[in-house]
Amino acid sequence: MRIDVVTLFPEMFGVVRDLGVTGRAHAQGRWSLHAWNPRDFTHDIHRTVDDRPYGGGPGMVMMAAPLEAAVGAAQAARAAQGLAPAPVALLAPVGKRYDQAGAEALAASDGLILICGRYEGVDQRFIERCVTHEISLGDFVLSGGEIAALAVIDAAVRLLPGVLNDGDSALQDSFNDTLSGLLDSPHYTRPEVYEGASVPAPLLSGHHANIARWRRERSLALTVTRRPELIESARAQGWLTLADERYLAELAGEPLPEPKKKRRFSKPKTA
Ligand SMILES: C[S@@+](CC[C@H](N)C(=O)[O-])C[C@H]1O[C@@H](n2cnc3c(N)ncnc32)[C@H](O)[C@@H]1O
Repeated sequence: MRIDVVTLFPEMFGVVRDLGVTGRAHAQGRWSLHAWNPRDFTHDIHRTVDDRPYGGGPGMVMMAAPLEAAVGAAQAARAAQGLAPAPVALLAPVGKRYDQAGAEALAASDGLILICGRYEGVDQRFIERCVTHEISLGDFVLSGGEIAALAVIDAAVRLLPGVLNDGDSALQDSFNDTLSGLLDSPHYTRPEVYEGASVPAPLLSGHHANIARWRRERSLALTVTRRPELIESARAQGWLTLADERYLAELAGEPLPEPKKKRRFSKPKTA
């Protein structure tokens, strides 16, 4: 996967390129990062990338031409590597909220070009000419798109094959299909008693089925309290078992669903 970033602060991307899990994966060549500074695509002595907004108002707006030239250079470099033209995603509070499904889709692709806005935002004509997607990190306003881009990259890179040491650990995370899209259960490590609080007994039992059931129930309880819509979506996908439904009914103080009756097979009639 190749990620190109158009940013006034390329040095910020050392965080994913050089550190931790994503840094190790970058060193192993599992993904690559290329930063393009719009200032390098200006033609005046001040390397101007922004100007005052038409219509007045506070702040500055990023100019279309340096951004478009940077995107052109990124697409040309990708083409030289034999890659098809990439989607161009602007980080923007008005965009579609990034989620685990978005991270999975990105990890399964050849990558994309991320545009990091600054100031009041970018000239709308650049968006209309060059941007294929707008991605938001959430309902809050950052000073620039870089931190949002770092989150987009990190969430996708850790899903690439071979990036996580324990191949299963991404599967056990919140929102993963393996967890039925639910929230992850709580985790504990040594010591067994910390400031008077013990590790829950099932986790110390060594009984795999009981541990799995405890974790599943904690996931269900946390999800139904904090993100009930994820329970609905797991139910709609057919991912909740009868034991799950019984536990949820118990939590809600509702009558427990009846266990499914075993089907009886009658003997085939003989003529
Ligand atoms: C100060 S913000 C501009 C906010 C813009 N005037 C608005 O109200 O929608 C500067 C840049 O930060 C980035 N940004 C801010 N909040 C973001 C968010 N929630 N998600 C993604 N990018 C964001 C965008 O690239 C944006 O162009």
